[in-house]
Amino acid sequence: AKPIGIGMIGCGTVGGGVATLLREQAALYEQRIGRPIELRRVLVRDVEKACRGGEVGRSLVTADAEAFFDTPDVSVVVEVAGGRGVVSDYVRRSLKAGKHVVTANKALLAAEGAELFDLARRHHAAIAFEASCAGGIPCITALKFGLMANRIDGLYGILNGTCNFILTAMSQAGRAYDDVLNEAQEKGYAEADPTLDVSGKDAAQKLAILASLAFGVAVPEDAVGCIGIDNLDLADIRFGAELGYDMKLLAIAERKPGESAVSVGVQPCFIHKHELLAKVEGAFNALSVFGHAVGHTLYYGPGAGRMPTASAVVSDVLNVAAGWYPCAFADMHLTPDRNAAADLVPS
Ligand code: NDP
Ligand code: HSE
Repeated sequence: AKPIGIGMIGCGTVGGGVATLLREQAALYEQRIGRPIELRRVLVRDVEKACRGGEVGRSLVTADAEAFFDTPDVSVVVEVAGGRGVVSDYVRRSLKAGKHVVTANKALLAAEGAELFDLARRHHAAIAFEASCAGGIPCITALKFGLMANRIDGLYGILNGTCNFILTAMSQAGRAYDDVLNEAQEKGYAEADPTLDVSGKDAAQKLAILASLAFGVAVPEDAVGCIGIDNLDLADIRFGAELGYDMKLLAIAERKPGESAVSVGVQPCFIHKHELLAKVEGAFNALSVFGHAVGHTLYYGPGAGRMPTASAVVSDVLNVAAGWYPCAFADMHLTPDRNAAADLVPS
């Protein structure tokens, strides 16, 4: 069968993992979807740097955007560069050319999601974004598909692996904030600009996406009240521990039954050590979702890092490539005309 061509923008922590999975598991993926998947071109800014890890062959990598977009037979573009600006332009150009887009970029979706999904719908393309929230945990799939029968009344959870890694190391090993943040960067958990993590902004972007899906309204990221962990010190954490509480950065969204107002916020919270969320350690994430029919559900797993995130990206690639990711669902919730329905109350 004819291969399905993939173009990838970015080849850092996540992109390297995506290339590795596509190469090492090629036979399994072909068996699963009935056609081979072929990585045809990779766009970066620094070609030498992208090739250093050996995940992609030198001949595939370019720093020339025109060469990237001229590559023939690319039907799915994987965006794992991050940020907005020119990266947003690349995503828009891909959609306008009718290419499906798989992205891990919560900053882009939280700010421009409504426009991008509208563009995708007009060009019969899908945007798949499982990796944008909670790393390797398939929480977008759960919200979009698995819980479709439910009215969602609320969701809350730990959505930033870097912050949870820092808080865990500070509380369990008494380590200094700066030292653990450096380690989170070395392990590839943190954003290129780690202030996005520690300020709570990254979790707020994820919450904006999840709340938009859950409540069927467009929730802009600046509507999310946001307090990070950048002003905590060890004494705060020790004080809580003496009383039996762990500090976690929680993202919370809820809507009271029968009301239109959605409250959305991110802030450090003390959680009693016996609670499930207190047991979420290191760069793991967890998301609790309350559906009116199913009740309380909980999703748990690695929230950051190369291979967990690549797992989410490549799963999206396979579903999109196989035609199992309906374009119509991609724009189901994040469309501009749904803005009016949201009455946002930052918590
Ligand atoms: P890295 O900084 O490790 O890699 C980014 C890659 O994108 C680099 O290869 C970089 O190339 C390239 N790039 C950046 N800007 C451009 C541009 N304008 N044009 C072409 N290439 C560009 O980031 P990550 O892999 O960690 O993250 C990528 C995305 O995945 C982000 O959106 C992030 O939020 C998201 N994500 C990350 C997770 C993680 O655990 N790391 C988890 C979930 C999501 P160059 O080096 O040449 O500049
Ligand atoms: N920087 C993010 C985090 C990556 O630490 O959670 C996963 O989205």
